[in-house]
Amino acid sequence: MSSHLTIITGGNRGLGYSLAKTLLSQNHSLILTARSLEKAKQAAQSLQSSSASITPLELDVSCQTSVQSFITSHLPQIISQNSDKFITLVNNAGIMEKQWDITRSTNVIAPADLSRAFIKEFEKSGRKGGRIVTLSSGLGNKGCQSQETLKLLADKQGKVTVEELKAWKDTSDEQETAKYNLSKHLVNYLTGLLAEEGKPFQISVHAVDPGWCQTDMGGPNATDSAESGADSTAWLANLSVEEGLQHTGVVFKARKELPWRTMDHA
Ligand SMILES: NC(=O)c1ccc[n+]([C@@H]2O[C@H](COP(=O)([O-])OP(=O)(O)OC[C@H]3O[C@@H](n4cnc5c(N)ncnc54)[C@H](OP(=O)(O)O)[C@@H]3O)[C@@H](O)[C@H]2O)c1
Repeated sequence: MSSHLTIITGGNRGLGYSLAKTLLSQNHSLILTARSLEKAKQAAQSLQSSSASITPLELDVSCQTSVQSFITSHLPQIISQNSDKFITLVNNAGIMEKQWDITRSTNVIAPADLSRAFIKEFEKSGRKGGRIVTLSSGLGNKGCQSQETLKLLADKQGKVTVEELKAWKDTSDEQETAKYNLSKHLVNYLTGLLAEEGKPFQISVHAVDPGWCQTDMGGPNATDSAESGADSTAWLANLSVEEGLQHTGVVFKARKELPWRTMDHA
């Protein structure tokens, strides 16, 4: 019987799908979510192995109604019915778009709301020991942000809140991927804040820069495979409670801490 359950957003293709494959080979049970139930079912069908279970569910992370429906209709049962398993939430779904609103909803607000709801369920049930991993990017590093973004965050002197991150106005510059860069920079800040919220329930919170990976987003010229891009996330999903808490709030790349606050490039 599997001792781990992992919830993955955007599990139907790319890094989410690769992660699902890796975790199944490590005997994790999965809640594989996708923008539509049809996509989730198709992915689950093509991954299906006899050794572990996959439950496909609909979760469109850019849609508030869908996120709230997942939080109220599915999350409580997932947590309560799997008291024998270590549960990890992986906020993987992400987009690289030119509009700030949709980028912010998908890459920042949904991970924030899902993570907080996950923590809340632990609080309600008295459960202890869990994990949250959100996909970030090297483009979230300091050197990839506009001067205005850096100034506004510096003015906060480390006192930015989750609500402020969710409501962040577009402070990106003219770079091609600027909105995406900003969203992932905010994800890194979010990771530190949620780590504090998770501590009383022994939930460790991490982010991962997967490298530049061959997926639809990364494109065919990317230097890393989708499998290697899923490695750090799978590694984190298998750490013990104690190991996770030792590194809570940390952004990882290739299983090592990424100094994203000071890095001057991706
Ligand atoms: N590939 C890279 O080089 C790279 C580098 C750094 C970080 N990342 C991050 O890694 C994560 C996965 O990227 P990827 O390379 O696998 O991207 P991808 O190939 O474009 O796949 C994105 C996944 O996210 C899902 N998704 C997007 N919007 C969604 C929504 N509103 N609701 C539900 N699912 C949604 C997609 O589902 P649909 O099929 O329905 O669109 C798809 O499953 C992202 O957060 C990305 O920012 C990737």
